Amino acid sequence: MKLHLVDPKTLTPEIFRVFGTQNALVAAGDQSGCNTMTVGWCQLGRLWNQPVCTVYVRPSRYTYSFMETRDYFTVSVLPASEKETMKLCGSRSGREIDKVKACGLTLCRGAGDAPFFDEAEWVLVCKKIYTQDLEPACVQDGTQILPYYESGDWHRAYTGRVVEAYTK
Ligand SMILES: Cc1cc2nc3c(=O)[nH]c(=O)nc-3n(C[C@H](O)[C@H](O)[C@H](O)COP(=O)(O)O)c2cc1C
Repeated sequence: MKLHLVDPKTLTPEIFRVFGTQNALVAAGDQSGCNTMTVGWCQLGRLWNQPVCTVYVRPSRYTYSFMETRDYFTVSVLPASEKETMKLCGSRSGREIDKVKACGLTLCRGAGDAPFFDEAEWVLVCKKIYTQDLEPACVQDGTQILPYYESGDWHRAYTGRVVEAYTK
């Protein structure tokens, strides 16, 4: 494996640049099966006095079933050159194809056997500590938010404690 474990405190990811340009692959599963998809939304910070990462997954995604049934998920930030991988993982469903195989990604395993990818620049392995559905009743500025939900399918937010971080 090219990646190695580091203290998450030493990571200095340019979050506002990465998410919105390179984006990331969220993955969940274990030895019995896994799936991955592109995400453009992610938060990192501190909550309940723990280092946390939050991602947002719509129930219609195949990845959702893995997020729901496993205790861990991962966030892998691939280099900007991996455009085709990000495109395929963000447009095709794991219900139809094996995206890990199709993209030639090298599967690694972190805590709880959570899947992540050796091609990444950096990776977070997270243990779920809190999940919450985004809800119409909580929207404060509808003009910005409601267009994302014309057909429902409101995201579920998954907050995980960052239990491992890897980088090159
Ligand atoms: C740039 C980009 C960002 C995306 N961000 C998210 C996201 O944050 N949450 C989400 O539910 N879907 C997001 N998607 C859509 C999923 O990646 C896409 O629907 C994927 O095919 C789902 O795969 P699955 O059915 O195998 O889980 C994004 C797609 C792209 C291209």
